[in-house]
Amino acid sequence: MSSKAAKKKTRAPKASKKPAKKPASSNKSPKGLVYARLVAELRSLLKGEYDFIANTANFSALVYNSLSDVNWAGFYFLKDEELVLGPFQGRPACVRIPFGKGVCGFAAKQGETVIVPNVHEFPGHIACDTASNSEIVIPLFDGERVLGVFDVDSPTLKRFDDQDAEGLNELVTVLVAHEERLDQ
Ligand code: SME
Repeated sequence: MSSKAAKKKTRAPKASKKPAKKPASSNKSPKGLVYARLVAELRSLLKGEYDFIANTANFSALVYNSLSDVNWAGFYFLKDEELVLGPFQGRPACVRIPFGKGVCGFAAKQGETVIVPNVHEFPGHIACDTASNSEIVIPLFDGERVLGVFDVDSPTLKRFDDQDAEGLNELVTVLVAHEERLDQ
């Protein structure tokens, strides 16, 4: 028998016991950890409460007060081909945005998350707060139907990345599933 074969034969058998499960947070980046904490806080804020205005108001306050470098966070809901301002935190904002217009209307029409690193370079951007320099917009869905969007603005250029998109999408998914009582 060659030494190679012998080596192979004497190798310890594979452990049949599964290794101890790592906590889900152990492979998350600092930003991932912030969103994991926010998801847990959101679940606890929503617990037992199904009033949509109350829950979307608290959702906006949670995001606005937990993320760094944010000057506006809030909802627009789709009503008759227009996005109408919902609960938010930050300076007073434009009340109605035509479907397809601005970053919010574009995200609603596309049905996709939109990250804008520099709002001044986005054709048709609607400037509600002149302090805003970057923006992320997350559409809210009821199945395939777009219900509205959640919009977050920052005074910092390139403030939002794919991790923000992932984290904010998780948060709105938890919110909508709760309102539709899919989390029971
Ligand atoms: N900038 C948005 C308008 C909403 S405010 O930012 C709050 C847009 O272009 O759709």
